[in-house]
Amino acid sequence: MTRLVGKTALITGAARGIGLAFAERYVREGARVAIGDIKIERARAAAAEIGEAAIAVEMDVTQQQSIDDAVAEVIGAFGQIDILINNAALFTAAPIAEISRADYTQVFDINVGGTLFTLQAVAKHMIERGGGGKIINMASQAGRRGESLVGVYCATKAAVISLTQSAGLNLIEHGINVNAISPGVVDGEHWDGVDAFFARYENKAPGQKKAEVAAGVPYGRMGTAEDLTGMAVFLASEDADYVVAQTYNVDGGQWMS
Ligand SMILES: NC(=O)c1ccc[n+]([C@@H]2O[C@H](COP(=O)([O-])OP(=O)(O)OC[C@H]3O[C@@H](n4cnc5c(N)ncnc54)[C@H](O)[C@@H]3O)[C@@H](O)[C@H]2O)c1
Repeated sequence: MTRLVGKTALITGAARGIGLAFAERYVREGARVAIGDIKIERARAAAAEIGEAAIAVEMDVTQQQSIDDAVAEVIGAFGQIDILINNAALFTAAPIAEISRADYTQVFDINVGGTLFTLQAVAKHMIERGGGGKIINMASQAGRRGESLVGVYCATKAAVISLTQSAGLNLIEHGINVNAISPGVVDGEHWDGVDAFFARYENKAPGQKKAEVAAGVPYGRMGTAEDLTGMAVFLASEDADYVVAQTYNVDGGQWMS
């Protein structure tokens, strides 16, 4: 468990859920990690729990100044950023006729704008420093095909897959590998929110949608955040040096591509 010794990582939206599992695993692999999140108190508590290899950094990925300040803070603390995981995101659901422009703008700002402009800020640092780096974007099976009630979120994750391809092709000349992980359905607070949306729009009992999606996963259960961490370590390691612009499904067999 020492594949990331000497490496430093910024993980956005890591105060809870999948990002937090990435932070914990990276530290176990020898890295130092910055937990970037808009919920700074929760990020601080998470960093304190992990120990001295983790710091909390307040950042709102929809605000350029906040991104720039956070990146500068992490470089100040660690000297450099070797790995970025663009993990912060927001889920939303509504029938097409009920999608609001405000909801569309907010979710695109976080999921797409946040990914692009955090990637850009960290890539500039990596280019200036030389020596390359690893950037991992969080996509989703929702980005592989549309869903009746999930138009906006699906579109943001399709955009993340596309940006991963373009950024991957553009940045590999600097030794920066950009790739993405595409989870399926991962249990946690995020999916508690998803379940609540479906309870409302499909008139289901609380927990019913979760049980239904779990039954539909070929592996036989929903994923856990921990299930994704092996891919996040691989993509951040030298073993992935020749892996460029790809999106990997880690979803218990949900999607094949
Ligand atoms: N949970 C799943 O089933 C699932 C499936 C596919 C993809 N994903 C993706 O994996 C990633 C992590 O998912 P999760 O389940 O851990 O989500 P989550 O909702 O539990 O965590 C998201 C984190 O992002 C933070 N955040 C929200 N807006 C922010 C902003 N503007 N700036 C900075 N931080 C912000 C939140 O405070 C939270 O800590 C997301 O990109 C998500 O779309 C999750």
